[in-house]
Amino acid sequence: MSESPLLSVNNLHVRFPIKAGLLQRTVGEVKAVNGISFEVNRGEAFGIVGESGCGKTTVARAILRLLEATTGNIAFEGNNISSLTGKQLAPFRRKVQAIFQDPFSSLNPRKTTLDIIGEPLRVHALAEGDGVRQRITDLLEMCELPARFMELYPHEMSGGQRQRVGIARALAMEPELIVCDEAVSALDVSIQAQIINLLEKLRQELGLTYVFIGHDLSVVRHLCNRVAVMYLGRIMETADSETLFSQPQHPYTRALLDAVPDPDPLTEAEREIEPLHGEVPNPSNPPSGCVFHTRCPVAEERCQHDAPPLVSLTPSQSAACWLVKQPFSNS
Ligand SMILES: Nc1ncnc2c1ncn2[C@@H]1O[C@H](COP(=O)(O)OP(=O)(O)OP(=O)(O)O)[C@@H](O)[C@H]1O
Ligand SMILES: [Mg+2]
Repeated sequence: MSESPLLSVNNLHVRFPIKAGLLQRTVGEVKAVNGISFEVNRGEAFGIVGESGCGKTTVARAILRLLEATTGNIAFEGNNISSLTGKQLAPFRRKVQAIFQDPFSSLNPRKTTLDIIGEPLRVHALAEGDGVRQRITDLLEMCELPARFMELYPHEMSGGQRQRVGIARALAMEPELIVCDEAVSALDVSIQAQIINLLEKLRQELGLTYVFIGHDLSVVRHLCNRVAVMYLGRIMETADSETLFSQPQHPYTRALLDAVPDPDPLTEAEREIEPLHGEVPNPSNPPSGCVFHTRCPVAEERCQHDAPPLVSLTPSQSAACWLVKQPFSNS
């Protein structure tokens, strides 16, 4: 039995106009997302990684319908989200929740947890009367916080506790999909691990689906079943987590993995690291051909003018690189 994907992103492009001068004329455009496609099945945790500015947050905002796709489309439960109107939009807004990097800015500083979680519960008629406190107590418990947190303001909590309240608020909507954009990036490493473990527990217990965006590959590896590596608005490689980390095929993925320090200081000291040279090029004027060729250690002539398509290497791994051979054939 093959179930249809919960989320499917089809050839998504998002461009932002660059305006200049007194008349604010459009003088160019930032190609933030440049033709990406992926599917996320129910119950999966799908990771998106890549350097700063490669378009991850833009993808997240498009999935949340906080911005419009320039072309391409996004389907949630089989429905194109840009065509949802009025009555259909409310359930979509409830079923797709977001957790951002900085819960301090996403939680109203003048409200206690009771109001932060209670108000959306009432608005969506998910609890009323005495049921509100009971539901919040349950949600806090799910997020491993005692009920007394109901009376606290965001500034009275630690970063990790605030992120737990942010997760409880998302769970209050009984979501199907949670988009986590750098949800643990601002936290100390030990707290990050606790939040990741909590997200994993919730995924198992509630059957949640995640799109998890992160810089830290070890965090993404721990939580996600599948990962897409983005560079300048495109997907360079996608694979199930284990394969991506043990057998990366794209030179960009390899470079990203090389940059992750080895936890063993002895092997770390001996490791020969081939760092990524230079900066990510400006997305308003991306390189011709393969967008990575200007920084690629193995680029050839062809890479400068022909953009390689994302091709399947195995049923679970695809890469967009002319130099990646069909590695699992016996030739
Ligand atoms: N509203 C906007 N208007 C113009 N340009 C934008 C806008 N939002 C994002 N961009 C540009 O689009 C590109 C992609 O940005 P995005 O925030 O999606 O990257 P990111 O991968 O999330 O980066 P980071 O890891 O730093 O969060 C960047 O060049 C950014 O400057
Ligand atoms: Mg971002």
